[in-house]
Amino acid sequence: MKTQVAIIGGGPSGLLLAQLLHKRGIESIVLERKTKAYVLGRIRAGVLERGLLELMREAGVSARMDKEGYVHHGALISYGDEMFRLNFTEHTGHAVMVYGQTEVTRDLYAAREQSGGPIEFNVENVVINDADTDAPFVTYEVAGESRRIDCDFVAGCDGFHGVSRQTIPPDVRREYEKVYPFGWLGILSETPPVNHELIYATSDRGFALCSMRNENLSRYYIQCSLDEKAEDWTDEAFWDELKRRIPADQARNLVTGPSIEKSIAPLRSFVTEPMRWGRLFLCGDAAHIVPPTGAKGLNTAASDVNYLYRGLCAFYETGSTDGIDSYSQTALARVWKVERFSWWFSSLMHQFPDQTDFDRKMQWAELEFLRANDAAQQAMAENYVGLPY
Ligand code: APR
Ligand code: PHB
Repeated sequence: MKTQVAIIGGGPSGLLLAQLLHKRGIESIVLERKTKAYVLGRIRAGVLERGLLELMREAGVSARMDKEGYVHHGALISYGDEMFRLNFTEHTGHAVMVYGQTEVTRDLYAAREQSGGPIEFNVENVVINDADTDAPFVTYEVAGESRRIDCDFVAGCDGFHGVSRQTIPPDVRREYEKVYPFGWLGILSETPPVNHELIYATSDRGFALCSMRNENLSRYYIQCSLDEKAEDWTDEAFWDELKRRIPADQARNLVTGPSIEKSIAPLRSFVTEPMRWGRLFLCGDAAHIVPPTGAKGLNTAASDVNYLYRGLCAFYETGSTDGIDSYSQTALARVWKVERFSWWFSSLMHQFPDQTDFDRKMQWAELEFLRANDAAQQAMAENYVGLPY
């Protein structure tokens, strides 16, 4: 089989790239290790930056998002019983959209099926061959049958545990990592959100986040230690702890109910350089990971896809290699700014096991400064709604 772009990974990165390329008449095939149901079963964040909203519209997959998504013009930041609102629209002229990543992925699968673009599930033993030549090819197995795809380019959209990053020789790759000494215990509950906007909360007991999917589906997180297990927490214990980490007047409004999903996610900052090796381009979690505090995982995958998509269009439409030649440098310039914001916001809002009383005072002072200073709020709002591509 031959195609123009072989895409490894059928998550948001791979599917968004495939759909954007399809709209410009560029062929691709998506190779996904799992089943569609498995991919759609993943619970992920739900805040979409302005850049991703524009890409979804350009890709022609925004109808349901624009109909069912929730436009948020601000978010609440609390510390103890203190709370203030960060007004995105006032500071940046932009809002964000609250719309589950699962729904984004569902919409992208529907578009792929409608386009008739090939996608293979349950693929195994994917190997990216000759990426550093002008004739790369991908080999893999499906249902025990060996397959080969000859292509012009390979997009490594296969996430943190994929094969694409490992295809770049170790002596070429440079990796940067920070592992945080805590995790997030998250639950989904079919209850009305405690507030119509997100609440990012810090307290002497640790971080908490109040989010939502719709008027009757709420998403809550509390910081937990890495040696805890989701099954260690009863729903009652979770609700009690959450109430102790958000302002009392918000806790009074909290509607509790049975959890329909409960899991713990570790927090990590990670970047691979370069994001290109020959005809292989890494996108999204294959190249970088951010702690979820700033809701930047999906959104940074989207910015990678934006740069790669435009570089590939320029190549096929004009013969110019400028976009693909500058891809790694351009993508990384934005990735590192997002890594900084996610690290900064995580460092500000979480309790660190080894932090001193002075460290805690510095966090409180920074929150008080953020609350009072317009320029500080402007900077945070610009990062939260999404830096320009
Ligand atoms: N071959 C084929 N597919 C693979 C392989 C492989 N060897 N390894 C992994 N995959 C698939 C996974 O099953 C997954 O569906 O690649 C996909 C990668 O998707 P994500 O991990 O979601 O990464 P990405 O598409 O970059 O999206 C980034 O999604 O998971 C969140 O937190 C992440 O918000 C971020 C966003
Ligand atoms: C979520 O709704 O899951 C969510 C929202 C904002 C974040 C992280 C997660 O920063």
